[in-house]
This record gives sequence, C-alpha cells and structure tokens, in this order.
Amino acid sequence: MKAIISALIGLSTIARAVPQSCPDYAIVGGGPSGFVLAEHLSRDPTVSVVLLEAGPDNIGVEDIDIPGHVPFLYPTLHSWNFTSQPDPNLDGATPGLAIGRGFGGGSAINYMLGCRGAPSVFDEWAKISGDDGLKWKNFEQDFKATTHYTKQSDVTYDTHLTESAYGDGPVELTAPTDLLGAQLQFVNASQRALNIPWVDLSDGHGIGVTIPASPIRASNRTRDFASQAYGWPMGGRPNVQLMHDTEVIKVGFKGRRATDVTYINHVTGAIVKLRAKEIILSAGTINSPKLLMLSGVGPAKQLKKLGIPLIKDIPELGQNLLDHHVAYTEFEVVPSVETLWQWAANATGAAIANREYAEKRRGPLSVDTGQAFSIIRAPDSVFKKANASPYYPNLPADRGHILMQFSSGAYRQPSPNISLISPFVAVVQPEESGYMQLASKDYRDSPIIHSNYYGSAGDKAAVLWGVKQIRKVMADAAFSPLVVREFYPGAEVQSDEDLWHSIRNGSASFNHPMGTAALGTVIEGKTYRVKGLDGIRVVDASNFPVMVTCQPMMTVYAHAHHAAQLISKQDRKS
Ligand SMILES: Cc1cc2nc3c(=O)[nH]c(=O)nc-3n(C[C@H](O)[C@H](O)[C@H](O)COP(=O)(O)OP(=O)(O)OC[C@H]3O[C@@H](n4cnc5c(N)ncnc54)[C@H](O)[C@@H]3O)c2cc1C
Ligand SMILES: *[C@@H]1O[C@H](CO)[C@@H](O)[C@H](O)[C@H]1NC(C)=O
Ligand SMILES: *[C@@H]1O[C@H](CO)[C@@H](O)[C@H](O)[C@H]1NC(C)=O
Ligand SMILES: *[C@@H]1O[C@H](CO)[C@@H](O)[C@H](O)[C@H]1NC(C)=O
Ligand SMILES: *[C@@H]1O[C@H](CO)[C@@H](O)[C@H](O)[C@H]1NC(C)=O
Ligand SMILES: *[C@@H]1O[C@H](CO)[C@@H](O)[C@H](O)[C@H]1NC(C)=O
Ligand SMILES: *[C@@H]1O[C@H](CO)[C@@H](O)[C@H](O)[C@H]1NC(C)=O
Repeated sequence: MKAIISALIGLSTIARAVPQSCPDYAIVGGGPSGFVLAEHLSRDPTVSVVLLEAGPDNIGVEDIDIPGHVPFLYPTLHSWNFTSQPDPNLDGATPGLAIGRGFGGGSAINYMLGCRGAPSVFDEWAKISGDDGLKWKNFEQDFKATTHYTKQSDVTYDTHLTESAYGDGPVELTAPTDLLGAQLQFVNASQRALNIPWVDLSDGHGIGVTIPASPIRASNRTRDFASQAYGWPMGGRPNVQLMHDTEVIKVGFKGRRATDVTYINHVTGAIVKLRAKEIILSAGTINSPKLLMLSGVGPAKQLKKLGIPLIKDIPELGQNLLDHHVAYTEFEVVPSVETLWQWAANATGAAIANREYAEKRRGPLSVDTGQAFSIIRAPDSVFKKANASPYYPNLPADRGHILMQFSSGAYRQPSPNISLISPFVAVVQPEESGYMQLASKDYRDSPIIHSNYYGSAGDKAAVLWGVKQIRKVMADAAFSPLVVREFYPGAEVQSDEDLWHSIRNGSASFNHPMGTAALGTVIEGKTYRVKGLDGIRVVDASNFPVMVTCQPMMTVYAHAHHAAQLISKQDRKS
C-alpha cells in the first residue's frame, strides 16, 4: 500500500500546487477518459497537459482496492449521488444515479465487469459520426491497445475467454479465481434454460452467457483503476500535472473560442482561472453537459430562464440520456453460496474472509459480488403481443434485448437477516431515452435528471419478459438446488399486473449513463469538437450516440484511446 502512496504522490500534483500557466491542454475530469487522454497527449514532451479532477486522489482506500468491498463504495465521498426525478413509469419512484468522483472516476468504484458487446453498435456509431475508425473491425485495435489479459494458474475452470481478443494495453484484466458457489451453476442454468452458448462477450459475440474478465490484478487481486493503470506510464513526465480536489465550475469563452477554465480548489477554497490553448471535457455523461450549460452552451431557452448568458444554442445537449435500467428480484440461497451477508454481516465469516484475502488473496474479497451475466434476445412475439413498435424486432441480430446478472448481495436486506442473492435484468438498448437539464446557475446544485424508465410499450414488454426469464434460470435443475425460495417479489406474485408492481418497486440504475453530448449531434465526428465552437472538445461516455449492449467501461477506455489518437494527430505541432 505504501508503495502506491509514495509513487503516486510523486506523479500527482497535490491540490495546493499551482498549475503551469496556459498549458496546451486542460482536461476536465480524471475518470477513464481523462486519464487515457492525459497519458496519450503527454507522450510528446513538448505538449503540456493539466488534468483537473473534482474529487479526491483515491489512493490507498481499502474499499476501492479490495474487489469484494465494492458494495460499500456509494454513497461515499468517492461518488456523486444523483437522483432522478419522480418517474411516472415507476409510480413516482426516484432511483439514484451514482457516478464516480475522484481519480479513476467510475473505474474506482464500479463493479468491474468487462464487456464490449455487439459489434454492430460500433458500426452504427461509425455511420452516425462519419468516422470509420469506430467500425468494429478498426475499433477492436483500440480495445486491444487499452487492455491486456493475464492468465492465472489458480483458475481451475475453463473460462471460455478468448485470449487473443485482448492486447498489450495498461489495464490488466483477469478471470475470477473464486466463484462464490453460484457462478458456474448460473452459467449452466442460463445455457440450458435460455438456450444460449457460454462465450466471451468481448470477442465479437453479442449474445450468450459469460464469466467476464475484470480489471483486477493477478499479482494481489486488487482493483486496477484508471489512475493507476494510466498513472504509472505518466510518472516522471514533467509536462503533465494531475490535480485532484479541483472542481471546474465554468469554461470561459472569447466569442466562440473557449479560452480558460475556472476551478475551485476544495482544499484551500480558492477560486482560480486557468487559461489553456485547448480544453477537453471528460467529466462524464452528467457533468460534462452540466459544465457546458453553466458556461452558456446548451438549450438557449433554458439557459435564458436561469439567467445564464448564451454562448451557443445547442438544443440537443442533455437530451438522449441513455442508461441501463434494471429490475431486481431476490432469492434466498443455501449456505454453500457465499453471499455478502455471510461474510459482511457475520463477524466469524468476516474474519475468515479477511484472513483468506490477507494470506492467500483468495475468497469472496478477491472478486466482486457476482461475476456472471448473460445477454439475451426476446422473441418477436413478445413485442407483437404488447402492440409495441417494431423497434426491438428490428435491432440487428447480434444485439440482445435483456442483460441478466446477479449480485451475491441483497438488493434490499431485510431484517432478520437472510442469505440472499439478487438476480436482475436490464433493458440493453431502451427504445426511449431520458434527458437532463440544469436546476440553477449554481454549480453546487445537482442537475435535474429525467431517467424515463421503461418509457415505451416495447421497453415495458422487454423488462417484463426479462423478469420471467430470471425465474426460468433459477428454476432450472442446474441452479434450483441452491435456491431455498423466491424472496422478492415472491412465488405468489404471478399475474403480469402484480409482476409490474414488483418491477416498479424494484427498479434502479445500473449506473451506465451515456449519450448526452453525442457524436453526430452535439459533437463533431473525428474532431471531437463541440459543434460551432473552437478550443473545446468533449471526450467521454456522453459521446456514445447509441448504447453499447453491456457494461460500458471497456468501451470508454477504447473510445478515449481512439479520440486521443485523432486529437494528437490533428493538433500536432509542426
Ligand atoms: C456504481 C457503478 C457501477 C458500475 N459498474 C460498471 C461495471 O461493472 N462495468 C462497466 O463496464 N462499467 C460500470 N460502470 C460504468 C463506468 O464506470 C462508466 O461508464 C465510466 O466510468 C465512464 O467513464 P467517463 O470517463 O465517461 O466518466 P467518469 O468515470 O464519470 O469520470 C468523470 C470524472 O470527472 C470528474 N468531474 C466531474 N465534474 C467535474 C468538474 N466539474 N471538474 C472536475 N472534475 C469533474 C468526476 O469526479 C469523475 O472522476 C459503473 C459505474 C458506476 C458508477
Ligand atoms: C498490487 O500489485 C501491484 C503490482 O502488480 C502494485 O503496484 C500494488 O501496489 C499492489 N497493491 C497492494 C494494495 O498491495
Ligand atoms: C455523496 O454522499 C456521501 C455520503 O453521504 C457524501 O460523503 C459525499 O460528499 C456525497 N457526494 C457529493 C459529491 O456530494
Ligand atoms: C443481522 O446483521 C447485523 C449486521 O448487519 C447484525 O448486527 C445482526 O446481529 C444480524 N442479525 C441476525 C439475526 O443474524
Ligand atoms: C457466521 O459464519 C460462520 C462461519 O461461516 C457460520 O458457521 C455461522 O453459522 C454464521 N452465523 C450465522 C448467524 O449465519
Ligand atoms: C449442468 O446442470 C445439469 C443439471 O443439473 C447437470 O446434469 C450437468 O452436469 C451440469 N453441467 C455442468 C457442466 O456442470
Ligand atoms: C416496495 O417493496 C418493499 C420491500 O419489499 C416494501 O417494503 C414496500 O412497501 C414496497 N413499496 C411499495 C410502494 O409497494
């Protein structure tokens, strides 16, 4: 632990330091996108880079390092704790939306499931953006350039992972060494009950079941997050400064050209203006649009209402808010399944788990809480019966409609304590999107987020069908010996109407927002510039015009690598 602390302090500029004046690039946000950009752009020693991150440096935080501790990571000071507006589709419920905050962004607090998903998505991005580099066949190189896979001798099952799909990039991926007594059964039951193959969902397969590779180091089973994977290569580069606890509150413009950022130093309270030749926002799907809007870029009518002087009217900014909306169930399981409750809520269990991890880097702390999931496609008849539009049946054949995963922790832990797993389904590519806007011109106020869960007849039909598939998997002979009973919604809940009630009361965000500053509408393809403005780009998950079909982080890394290459070529000093 000490090694990390000293080495990283060596490379990161602590909050009190003063950044060099007028760097070539000011990068706003230290998540996966920001770190990939900073590393790539600073390879040229004549190019100066300052990265500003609102949150802490996230170094030496046990709950971040230890994979099994992921459920304890939010809400904490490592997260933005947003909440959506009362959703009429959920009888007015207000699901939370957690976002990473601090060096590493989401990669420091997320569940570490690796996936690329359906290739046709990237071909669609290429078409929308006019950038052939995003076509799957080309984009695969960016996936390879950002990750590598380490094979471990103590993995005793056939992982079904395609080693050649990974490359030699900084982020280390490994298969889980411990399976918590349920993953292989989940995979077997999914194959049998859903008629899908066991595949690697990162090698070009869009549909199937998987135990994925995760960003967890082989050497000591700790989380490999962006500021570590991409921080080390920057160590000792004098042309890059990484600043934490510095929150950018405004981008300044001269006419249509962005010229500076104003940030608040959360350690000293000082408000500082930093001029930069070029500004890149990598503050994430919610905060990048928020910052643009605070700076006068966005829907003119709203900005006017809030008293923000207009720089550029962009009505689409904040629209197209895409997320994976999940519906939970809960099943009580036999003691051989290592649930979170068994080791986190029981002192004896905790002592055993801690010792296993400390001495052998094994046990439930060495993995996250449920590393297996499937992506499946509903038959057309499901949507016909619901009088839905042809949207779902018309999606390309490599795309699923539903992602099914389980957590070995309880969605809602009842009292008295019961050993529960929480299988859930997410709609992979919802037909309807949400939107976000500013609540006020005060940077401290959270934005207003309209999530729009299950907003169309097709979205509703997909999630309802998905919940029924969970029951099929749990009831399959390959899994049923582990199940004591269905706990939520409960076996007595059978009619569609009753199931709907449980879905509305058991829905949450998968925390995968994207799309609010999309390529093709808000952002110009290939240049990543905000359309109609100079000196300002956005590179992060907000650029994704269409949802990826599974967990987005691997794509976030690859996409930032792709953008960084284009940007450094375009801006090369000659
Ligand atoms: C709880 C959770 C679980 C998830 N699980 C998975 C998973 O299992 N697998 C997967 O692939 N993906 C998962 N994700 C999603 C994944 O983490 C994100 O898609 C990814 O981190 C997005 O990267 P980004 O670079 O776009 O932005 P972010 O990771 O959001 O990083 C943006 C950074 O900018 C900073 N910032 C924001 N505003 C400002 C400002 N004004 N000034 C300075 N800095 C600012 C933020 O603090 C943050 O550090 C999960 C996310 C969460 C939150
Ligand atoms: C884990 O191993 C990596 C190298 O593989 C090392 O840099 C890091 O300090 C180790 N972390 C802990 C908490 O031991
Ligand atoms: C999120 O919630 C935690 C716990 O309440 C809090 O410490 C943290 O400051 C919150 N994050 C933000 C950005 O407000
Ligand atoms: C339930 O868990 C809590 C800790 O979360 C513990 O204090 C309590 O003793 C447990 N109760 C039972 C009945 O096991
Ligand atoms: C706590 O964990 C120990 C060790 O796994 C187990 O023997 C014991 O039954 C558990 N207690 C409860 C209340 O589940
Ligand atoms: C899958 O489950 C079935 C039913 O229990 C069982 O017969 C079969 O051996 C299992 N297959 C594997 C590979 O475990
Ligand atoms: C939602 O479910 C929880 C847990 O099962 C229950 O306590 C609560 O009353 C339910 N709320 C509604 C509105 O049905």
